[in-house]
Amino acid sequence: MSISKTEYARRRKALMELMEPNSIAIVPSAKEKIRSRDTHYTFRQDSDVHYLSGFDEPDVVLVLIPGREHGEFVIFCRERDKAKEIWDGYRAGPEGACKIYGADDAFPIDDIDEILPGLIEGRERVYYALGRDPEFDAQVMGWINRIRAKVRSGAIPPGEFLDLNHFLHDLRLFKSTAEVRLMARAGEIAAQAHIRAMQYCKPGVYEYQLEAEILHEFAINGARNAAYNTIVGGGANGCILHYIDNNQVLRDGDLVLIDAGCEYEYYASDITRTFPVNGVFSREQKALYEVVLEAQAAAIAKVKPGNHWNEPHDAAVRVLTEGLVRHGLLNGNVDELIEKEAYREFYMHRTGHWLGMDVHDVGDYKVHGQWRVFEPGMVLTVEPGLYVSPDNTQVAKKWCGIGIRIEDDVVVTKDGCEILTSGVPKTVEEIEALMAAGRSKRAQSA
Ligand code: GLY
Ligand code: MN
Ligand code: MN
Repeated sequence: MSISKTEYARRRKALMELMEPNSIAIVPSAKEKIRSRDTHYTFRQDSDVHYLSGFDEPDVVLVLIPGREHGEFVIFCRERDKAKEIWDGYRAGPEGACKIYGADDAFPIDDIDEILPGLIEGRERVYYALGRDPEFDAQVMGWINRIRAKVRSGAIPPGEFLDLNHFLHDLRLFKSTAEVRLMARAGEIAAQAHIRAMQYCKPGVYEYQLEAEILHEFAINGARNAAYNTIVGGGANGCILHYIDNNQVLRDGDLVLIDAGCEYEYYASDITRTFPVNGVFSREQKALYEVVLEAQAAAIAKVKPGNHWNEPHDAAVRVLTEGLVRHGLLNGNVDELIEKEAYREFYMHRTGHWLGMDVHDVGDYKVHGQWRVFEPGMVLTVEPGLYVSPDNTQVAKKWCGIGIRIEDDVVVTKDGCEILTSGVPKTVEEIEALMAAGRSKRAQSA
């Protein structure tokens, strides 16, 4: 299950069709990053380079030149090197770049300064994501200046720079059938991981032990990396939105919030579940949990073609505000409370984001100043929450320190949306039953 060579070719063709005549696009790969002295972070290809080629080595530059007679797709990459490959693994080399990754032409990356200016020369426009990597920006400017230096001998430097992201990221926003299949698998693996953590959980275990259960389930299913740092927050730590210390013991009577998703074949999942450490919700936990769950259902119901980006958020805000009033955490008229954003004390983030190769995926949320309208193939998260600060003196003490978020991934379909992460339970009854099953499983094996 992965993206076919024809799909990569289709993506390049789609991008080239969006480009103006007589232009060139330049897309550099990610770089290897040092973690400590001579060890590196696991290399992760830049999403744009992966999207256009599936070529996942460092020191790669993709070049697209629509209409070029000797081939429209050019790759610069590392040369093969027997000694280096023995230490660090296989390299495709220019030959592999053509054979495996479909380049029409490929050259050693060390020759780029000699060859690329010649490819740019005579093209009127350069598509390039300026400002992402200052070092590469300087290199691009160096190539342009070399052409400019030769104008008196007839060289024609490009007159226009265009933001490649604008075009490429709009393509990435719409997921193909193959992409949705990979995202569904990423969702399934992450759902399994959340189930595993729920069944393992009991008072006295540490937050990092639940994280370990999650990461084990990811890795054993071929998703060796999390899509983002796993959040496991017990009790009031659940109120810290990006809590990743994960080093506290989980206490009887508290909730635990887990926000964890994997990356599978370069596609992310992003799930949050909140559940009681001891397996049974208290009255207050259940009350707020059901408000968040209802808000999520209301938001998901708004994800359909024709509705705009902010409709799920507006729906969630209304249900959350109503719930806060119902339970006495806010007082007043719901419409007025929404108008003055009184809910922000308890709900300070947005209800979702695009999801894809990056967890906070690319794609504009507004077009010409208006919220974007949903179309089939867009994938997003729906993740309302309520967070009552432990220091809140405006509400009864019994609510303080409760942090809840429920997050699922959905793909817009022809007439609504499909949830890609439904494999993990989320009603109070389902969660309590699953955790009870976990307890009896542990008792049997003890
Ligand atoms: N895990 C990051 C987010 O939910 O947006
Ligand atoms: Mn999210
Ligand atoms: Mn999340």
